[in-house]
Amino acid sequence: MADDTSTVKVPQGIIEISAFVPEARNDPHTPLKALREACPVMRDEMAKTWLLTRYDDVRGLVNDRSHVRLPIKAEEGSLPRRLVDDETDSSRTSILFLDDPDHARIRQPLAKAFYARINKMKPEIEAIIDDTIAAAPAEGAFDLMEAIAVPIPVLVIARILGVDESRLADFRQWSEDVILGLNPMRTEDETARLISGAEALDAYFTELMTARRAGPRDDLISDMVQLLASGEADMSDDELLLNLQALLVGGNLTTTDLIGNGVWLFLNHPGQLAALKANSGLGGQAVEEVLRYEAPVSATSRILAEDQQVAGCPMKARQAVFCSLASANRDAGTFDAPDAFDITVKRSSHVAFGGGPHICIGAPLARIEARRVYQKLFERYPDMRLAEQDLVWRALPFFRGLETLVVEV
Ligand code: HEM
Repeated sequence: MADDTSTVKVPQGIIEISAFVPEARNDPHTPLKALREACPVMRDEMAKTWLLTRYDDVRGLVNDRSHVRLPIKAEEGSLPRRLVDDETDSSRTSILFLDDPDHARIRQPLAKAFYARINKMKPEIEAIIDDTIAAAPAEGAFDLMEAIAVPIPVLVIARILGVDESRLADFRQWSEDVILGLNPMRTEDETARLISGAEALDAYFTELMTARRAGPRDDLISDMVQLLASGEADMSDDELLLNLQALLVGGNLTTTDLIGNGVWLFLNHPGQLAALKANSGLGGQAVEEVLRYEAPVSATSRILAEDQQVAGCPMKARQAVFCSLASANRDAGTFDAPDAFDITVKRSSHVAFGGGPHICIGAPLARIEARRVYQKLFERYPDMRLAEQDLVWRALPFFRGLETLVVEV
């Protein structure tokens, strides 16, 4: 737990607060607190990237529309620039790294259609969650990640997009393969899986778009191809395909970890679990507190379009600025008793979903899923407890989640 930082060494580089380093993987909050207090605006010369750790600075950065995202626009050698290799077309990217006017051109119609779908399908989404929880073991010990936290987000997004039942098993496999793209320490074997999974998904999405053009159904792919045909959405088939895949990749691991981190927190804080059970009206606030306390995505970044002052420091055009969402969410300047997990108090807004024009497009869906899971899971298993285990946090830099979480019911 992050408490007395007086004896803690202040991190000197971004790597020291990432999951590459075992101490930071197990407890990122202690080094982040030391950094926030000693050096809240840090220039990491090795990584050629700035790092912000205070809430106000992080919020200011993500909300500032003058900053850009396309990695090729960043200084040579900086962290975002390292994502781009010479072989890939760096302009072929989803909204995650796109800048205006292309970002707005694609995000606006996609978000409108996606949110309409989520609203329309809320009962179906909840039914998928209820069925998955009902199918989990009735007694004994099981891995909550495998039985519940991993399958739910992929089943939900498959239903929203309109994946055929008969292809669901393949779709799940390809989704798991492409998520390997987030792991910089993947093996050669895993890289091969990543490539074949991505190719299979490309082919399947292309097939789906063709099929839905010929015969629309009640799903997001049908909505989008119709918007393209009517001219209401101005994007190419390739842009649509890339962004539908972004919904798949962006939403799976993150929501899995929101579920896993939340269950872990509640089982470690029985008083908070009792408060949630006693008052289901706290469900929404509970999700926000899990997001604040153990944010599944711990950092985001921006690239400066021009020389300017950021967080009181002079910075140069093309410089990359990382910001720690995990640190901002524990800043005592914004949150009272920030290291206490407390769902019963109304807190200021966290930054777990980033902010400004790039704020997470999937936030409403993640909130619906997590709220329903916490409610139904603790209803089905009133005596759920943590099994004896050595917790292993994912070694994926800038993500925060558990590899496995064994529970007894
Ligand atoms: C707890 C779950 C989630 C967390 C913590 C999370 C976090 C984030 C963060 C931090 C960003 C970057 C925001 C910024 O730079 O300002 C982001 C962007 C994004 N997320 Fe999520 N996300 C979650 C769930 C989802 C879901 C469910 C989906 C889709 C179904 C999704 C799709 C995306 C996409 C496409 C972007 C890029 C948006 C843009 O740049 O315009 N995310 N998310």
